[in-house]
Amino acid sequence: MTDAAAPASRGLWITLEGGDGAGKTTQAELLHRWLEAEGRRVVRTREPGGTEVGALIRDIVLHHRGDVAARAEALLYAADRAQHVETLVRPALDRGEVVVQDRYLDSSVAYQGAGRVLDADEVRRLSLWATGDALPDTTVLLDLDPASARARLDADDKPFDRLESEREEFHLRVRQAFLALADAEPARFLVLDAARAPEELAAAIRDRIRPLL
Ligand code: TYD
Repeated sequence: MTDAAAPASRGLWITLEGGDGAGKTTQAELLHRWLEAEGRRVVRTREPGGTEVGALIRDIVLHHRGDVAARAEALLYAADRAQHVETLVRPALDRGEVVVQDRYLDSSVAYQGAGRVLDADEVRRLSLWATGDALPDTTVLLDLDPASARARLDADDKPFDRLESEREEFHLRVRQAFLALADAEPARFLVLDAARAPEELAAAIRDRIRPLL
């Protein structure tokens, strides 16, 4: 049993955050490839759904037809996170690996807090409880206005999930919440304008990560 409150020690933990359609997946891929070329072992993962239990939870939170109460939704994301950190993220960090992760607790604060209008501090505390206070070394926020993000999602031609289908005003609140989180923790966050070319964004991310390797 690991000490839940112990800080992640040897590895490096990088999370990517931002609204739907901001380009997190592309950047996670580019970062992954670069890190491997630098000779690091990389675990690429995501929330929700980075574990077997998480995949079941992901199915509920993204695809359940019908209402999911806001607090139930927050607890489901927190449960996914608890399983993910304990069984996948922390062991990888303990082995000295680099974890590149699509979304983490900032998504809960932004989506369940500002988006669903639960108390943001409570949502954050719930996730910190779930993970024994685990926080990433660096969080890249890909910031994009919701209208451009929507245009990208439309171009993708994939059906929208429960959160993507929310109204624009929901996504505006989510964006503001992400920016406020980044303001509150400037040492952890790197905020990038996601309208920039993917290769430029990747270079900015590499510049930030290189000294940490
Ligand atoms: P994501 O995996 O980025 O979607 P996709 O696979 O379609 O690119 O995220 C799934 C959705 O879950 C996204 O709309 C944001 C939402 N979400 C929350 O509401 N709270 C959370 O804590 C997390 C991690 C995600």
